[in-house]
Amino acid sequence: MLIRPMHDDDIDAARGLTHEAMELVRATTRPAGVPGPPPGPATPEWSSLWERRAKHLLRHDPDGCWVAELDGAVAGVGMALRREKLWALSAFFVRPTSQGAGIGAALLDAVLTYSQGCLRGIIISTSDPRAARRYRLAGFTLHPTIRISGTVRRSALPLVEAVREGGVGDRDLCDSIDRRTRGAAHGVDHEFLCAEYGLLVCDTLTGSGYCFVDRTGSPVLLAATNRKVAQRLLWTALASAPEESTVRIDYLTSDQEWAVDVALAAGLSLRTEGYVCLRHMRPPAPYLPSGAFL
Ligand SMILES: CC(C)(COP(=O)(O)OP(=O)(O)OC[C@H]1O[C@@H](n2cnc3c(N)ncnc32)[C@H](O)[C@@H]1OP(=O)(O)O)[C@@H](O)C(=O)NCCC(=O)NCCS
Repeated sequence: MLIRPMHDDDIDAARGLTHEAMELVRATTRPAGVPGPPPGPATPEWSSLWERRAKHLLRHDPDGCWVAELDGAVAGVGMALRREKLWALSAFFVRPTSQGAGIGAALLDAVLTYSQGCLRGIIISTSDPRAARRYRLAGFTLHPTIRISGTVRRSALPLVEAVREGGVGDRDLCDSIDRRTRGAAHGVDHEFLCAEYGLLVCDTLTGSGYCFVDRTGSPVLLAATNRKVAQRLLWTALASAPEESTVRIDYLTSDQEWAVDVALAAGLSLRTEGYVCLRHMRPPAPYLPSGAFL
């Protein structure tokens, strides 16, 4: 086995094994009746988003991106980012046929070298026990998470004031909200997110916040300086969901009851799955992390 820095040429292989590993996790952990994409080949939309994200990380965090090679083929990938004094793990996958043989441990060691000099660390974990084991052994505290999904009950949507559409010009505001909630700005990741998703902003005398939203009306990342602003943003995101669309609100620790309350009022369903894993920090709140940029 060889652990080496990742290059642009590895993106294809890394994306392929990520899809295989995720399919296996979904097949073994998603309870019956929970909505989600059917198993099968990766959609072109997912593949091209994965590729753009990998390029973004290779460009801004080349020392955080590593692959494992086995018999000349890429068998694992680990990609981490560093923003101010926060280290975050964006991807960590080993090809299903090679799992449980020590590749993940060696990859994570390499990716963690990129955390030197950082005060805090954050990982979002699937419920794969191998992942949870690796993260706890690396010193992260595992906070079990709630995942929410369903169709928004439109009659429950309240009238929300003071939320507007945002854009690239809101980056400084978003960065300062990040520093207040998670102790580090997202910086260049805001540029990526702005190009991929809609942005909602609330900036009032009593508090501020922002939320990136995808085409299904699901929040991709939300940060706010108080719960009231966070709820306004979440309601506005849910209101943008097309009729009959399945929305998802992922990675909520028990610190995000403000979001659980909105979700229940909107008629969505809760379940538990996975962990937010944190080192030297409490769960940021009010905050909904992004799976890729945390
Ligand atoms: C998580 C993952 C990257 C780890 O890579 P890996 O090569 O399988 O990891 P390792 O073999 O180094 O370590 C797995 C550990 O779990 C243990 N393990 C293996 N199977 C297990 C099981 N069913 N239950 C509990 N522990 C298990 C192994 O003994 C090993 O621990 P040890 O080194 O202390 O003995 C890989 O399993 C994977 O891709 N999983 C699916 C995708 C995923 O969930 N990724 C994490 C994204 S957050």
